[in-house]
Amino acid sequence: MTTGSADYRDSGLRFPEGFLFGSATASYQIEGAAQEDGRRPSIWDTFARTPGKVLGGDTGDIADDHYHRWAEDLDIVRDLGLDAYRFSIAWPRIQPTGSGEANQAGLDFYSRLVDGMLERGITPIATLYHWDLPQPLEDAGGWPERETAHRFAEYAALVGAALGDRVRTWTTLNEPWCSAFLGYGAGVHAPGRTEPLAALRAAHHLNLAHGLGIQALRGVVPGDPDYSVTLNFAVLRGEEEAVRQIDAVANRVFTGPLLKGAYPEDLLADTASVADWSFVQDGDLVDIAQRIDLLGVNYYNTALVALWDGTGVKESADNHGDTAASPYPGADRVQFLPQPGPYTEMGWNIAPDGLEELLLSLRRQFPDQPLMITENGAAFDDVLEDGHVHDAERLDYLRRHFTAAHRALEQGVDLRGYQVWSLLDNFEWAYGYSKRFGIVHVDYETLARTPKDSALWYSELARTHVLPE
Ligand code: NOJ
Repeated sequence: MTTGSADYRDSGLRFPEGFLFGSATASYQIEGAAQEDGRRPSIWDTFARTPGKVLGGDTGDIADDHYHRWAEDLDIVRDLGLDAYRFSIAWPRIQPTGSGEANQAGLDFYSRLVDGMLERGITPIATLYHWDLPQPLEDAGGWPERETAHRFAEYAALVGAALGDRVRTWTTLNEPWCSAFLGYGAGVHAPGRTEPLAALRAAHHLNLAHGLGIQALRGVVPGDPDYSVTLNFAVLRGEEEAVRQIDAVANRVFTGPLLKGAYPEDLLADTASVADWSFVQDGDLVDIAQRIDLLGVNYYNTALVALWDGTGVKESADNHGDTAASPYPGADRVQFLPQPGPYTEMGWNIAPDGLEELLLSLRRQFPDQPLMITENGAAFDDVLEDGHVHDAERLDYLRRHFTAAHRALEQGVDLRGYQVWSLLDNFEWAYGYSKRFGIVHVDYETLARTPKDSALWYSELARTHVLPE
């Protein structure tokens, strides 16, 4: 593979020594091999097979066939000169029925993958849950049920025991807001339920799963890796009361218990007609508020909110797909207003300032908490021509967001690394394969991989630590 760099000008913006430049993926989005080596369905296999749920009826059955091409994919990461690779482990490969002893073939796959990273000098950042819940656990009630959190801790211990000697960073959950509120509230993600109470219960049990999961990992993992969780923060602008309400049910419903050991009072009040929160049991908040070494930050865009007076059409430009049901229990009077462009192919507004603002706000709220950007990136309509993808818009998006992150670093934010979403074009959930987020192009006919111009630019940044202009 040629990753020889074009002529970039030195911007003078240097990232610190030890800053981890990497790229991210998730199991269901790239692996394929859905029925191999003992894997059984997750809620996403079921959801994708439900007519009308995923664009074009796409599924993750083959995806990028990473399950068979992982060595080639790690070669790409190495050849690009990236420091780290953020991947996720498919729970249904480890526990196909959601409980009981580990499926050795599943553990072996991730063991080979992690060894493959270490052999290539790539730091492994492992996420335990990136949305592929074993279907039998959903059949038993899913995340709204407390038992699921205990099952997660059991799963975490199995994976920790197998890979703990080699993984540098453990992330329990990826974007639990999406699991709870898009999965059980809006129904646009698996399992596709539209029950506001179930969504709040799911949020609590995801928080509990995180806390129990960290404790389980600590019990089996040798040495002193970094423990973390990854959240997708809503970066809100607009009317104060609307901002407060969405901040409560999108951000503080997680940061409250995880980082401060309590659910916010205003969230409990806002959602009182939906839930009495009696599902929070004595001791839960202590279990949840485990010290973490890194807070993972996923950032894509901002949201503009205002209160709706109940007349006319309520705006719902919240970028979470075509949601008939609301993913924001307790905030029924908030509307999401359209924002000025430019936009990515997802229709999301491009706002690098939002990233700087978010990092500074997290530093203010949690002064001693080191941060890592665990996702940032963009979907654009890419064209593969003569072996090249000139994705100037993605390159520009990344350049502007890295510049924003650098501004935050200069203001003293303790930012440890940046994982670009995504290494490969992949299965973009309800949008199927129609949206390409990769810095590496995947031809879905041949499964050939081609690094895009953005990957070559990123390679230069990762190698030199200086932002190329
Ligand atoms: C967040 C999710 O973690 C990831 O799976 C998804 O593909 C990207 N955002 C883009 O929507």
